[in-house]
Amino acid sequence: MEDAVKREFDNKIKRLTKSRAYLDFCEEAYGYRMYLFNMTDKAQLDFIFREIPLDAADTVLDLGCGCGSILNALTKQSGCAGVGLDRLDSGDVALHSPSASYIHGDMDDLAAYRLQPTVTLCVDSLYFVRDLQKLLRQLCAVPHNRLYLFYSQYLFEESAADAQTLRAERTTLACALNACGVSYQTIDYSENERRLYEASLRALEKRAGAFEKEGNLDLYQEKRKETLLGQTLYDTGRASRYLYLC
Ligand SMILES: C[S@@+](CC[C@H](N)C(=O)[O-])C[C@H]1O[C@@H](n2cnc3c(N)ncnc32)[C@H](O)[C@@H]1O
Repeated sequence: MEDAVKREFDNKIKRLTKSRAYLDFCEEAYGYRMYLFNMTDKAQLDFIFREIPLDAADTVLDLGCGCGSILNALTKQSGCAGVGLDRLDSGDVALHSPSASYIHGDMDDLAAYRLQPTVTLCVDSLYFVRDLQKLLRQLCAVPHNRLYLFYSQYLFEESAADAQTLRAERTTLACALNACGVSYQTIDYSENERRLYEASLRALEKRAGAFEKEGNLDLYQEKRKETLLGQTLYDTGRASRYLYLC
């Protein structure tokens, strides 16, 4: 299962970061012309780029950094140092700042890398961690490390009992934070994610031909299927999204 997830990201990110159609899609759907693989609409990206206090003395750790777009923008605008960690081959990650480095590694082995970030950013990556509590304890043990965790909760099966887990203080991530005794604030981005699915579908469907010409019709179809699923989850009250600030 884990290998399948890894293969899926490897294939998707390797190919889509060479796709002009996907870059055009990202610009329209996310409001920023950069390769992104997450559920952050423009308001959430604006938060990351404008509201996280950062300067040259900071080190940002981007856990599950994907191809590095967000880390590149943060290091460029603030002069901070950056560390991106992901399981992608290093050839698929392009960090531009001389003060940014890439670790080809596993979030579950975080302690081995002995990192000392002042800011840790996780954008849609915590779903893939085997031991969330262990990771959170390690991150919180780093002095002065501020955490910004973007997390969606999805109920793939309909169940009234589970509906409670959509509340900010009851998601899988919130439960792990509570178990670790970590206090947090949240920003509710559920409506943003719901609207992002609508915008994504529009931006995608007008580019079906462009994806096909590039030989990426399979990736187009996969992305469309994911987007439709996301829409259905919101339409049926089975999804929520929050930023956890710790
Ligand atoms: C949904 S993507 C988000 C990528 C990026 N944060 C963004 O916003 O575009 C999740 C990322 O987590 C990475 N990932 C998944 N499991 C991982 C693990 N155990 N250790 C490190 N990275 C992992 C994937 O390779 C992928 O790049």
